[in-house]
Amino acid sequence: MTFTDLWRDLEPLGRDPATGGYRRYSWTPADAQCRAWFTRQAEKRGLTVHPDANGNLWAWWGEPGPGAVATGSHLDSVPDGGGFDGALGVVTALAAVDLLQEQNFYPERPMVLVTFTEEEGARFGLPCLGSRLLTGAVDPEVARALTDDAGVTLAEAMTAAGLDPALIAPDPARLDDLGAFVELHVEQGRALAPMGSAIGIAEGIWPHGRWRLDFTGQADHAGTAGLGDRRDPMLAYAGTVLQARHAAASRHALATFGKVIAEPGATNAVCSAVRAWLDARAPDEITLSRTVTDIRSTAKRLSVEHGVTLSVRQESYSPVVRFDEDLRDRIAVVLAVAGMPAPVLATGAGHDAGVLAARLPAAMLFVRNPTGVSHSPAEHASLADCEAGVRALVLVLRDLAGSA
Ligand code: GLV
Ligand code: MN
Ligand code: MN
Repeated sequence: MTFTDLWRDLEPLGRDPATGGYRRYSWTPADAQCRAWFTRQAEKRGLTVHPDANGNLWAWWGEPGPGAVATGSHLDSVPDGGGFDGALGVVTALAAVDLLQEQNFYPERPMVLVTFTEEEGARFGLPCLGSRLLTGAVDPEVARALTDDAGVTLAEAMTAAGLDPALIAPDPARLDDLGAFVELHVEQGRALAPMGSAIGIAEGIWPHGRWRLDFTGQADHAGTAGLGDRRDPMLAYAGTVLQARHAAASRHALATFGKVIAEPGATNAVCSAVRAWLDARAPDEITLSRTVTDIRSTAKRLSVEHGVTLSVRQESYSPVVRFDEDLRDRIAVVLAVAGMPAPVLATGAGHDAGVLAARLPAAMLFVRNPTGVSHSPAEHASLADCEAGVRALVLVLRDLAGSA
């Protein structure tokens, strides 16, 4: 099967017909369809699929064992996400197996394809949940109690999908078997296009995190409550958004309020509460911490000014990642020798490879995204570049898994 055939097959799953964006949230019917699709495709290629207790799927080529070379990514999406984020790494992994099998390659080391669950944190708020559970970066008890916007816990969602949430646990034995993890991903940002390169290699990932801010005021009538009498949480929130932009811009950092809920949400009422989520990222941890401190103190000051109470809770934190230099250099040489020189890029986007990097040699390949737009239905990579991604992954897997 070619990359195109695989892509077309997966493309309709979880896509919203009105927006063209993907809503592949973990443990929903769309997610189940994606998991079934991956399992079917892996089994067609003679791979053996073992789901782990944390909701990740592992498809082994050869017997599971030490020194395994892993590749893959995730199939979940942000709300109205693009089709490439995560899915490209999974589809190229399957297409790479096809090409390797056509080349009569048989891995000397075990090879395994993986799809991680809830990478985006779109449903339960904690990104890279599957890989964090695997490595022990999140407490299973805390994870089971995570809730979605409807109040459903992760434990309930997993139970409904037929898994036993009591089994959620770090899996050091599985990690011990992995010799390397290589995640191919659509580029998020626009560095490769101006360089004229189809493929890049990750240098590292900026530290980043999510903070939930709850501004609580007093609901009142929009037509009768005088401006001076109001305790309007929207004002404290709005001022915080503007300051977040300034706090980030002045430090070459990034700060985003992309999700906000005004309660109870009446046009003709001052709202009683605003719940807002801050996503902040920076090139280093000190800059990130200063940016967030600045935003929090503005939120506090404006809350006092408007008679509103504020509570702030960190929902996730991802420390800075520097990918394994030996693996990165090895990949760079393999690609350069094959006539595919790949520039080394830093990114502000989080990935499961970043979580695994704390435990084993990990690396990432990026496929050029001509506009740089991501987390949007406009996210794109050309077919030719995706196929170049498959060829690059094949070269890397041949090199890593070809000798014991
Ligand atoms: C994942 O895509 C993230 O960086 O939010
Ligand atoms: Mn993403
Ligand atoms: Mn991704």
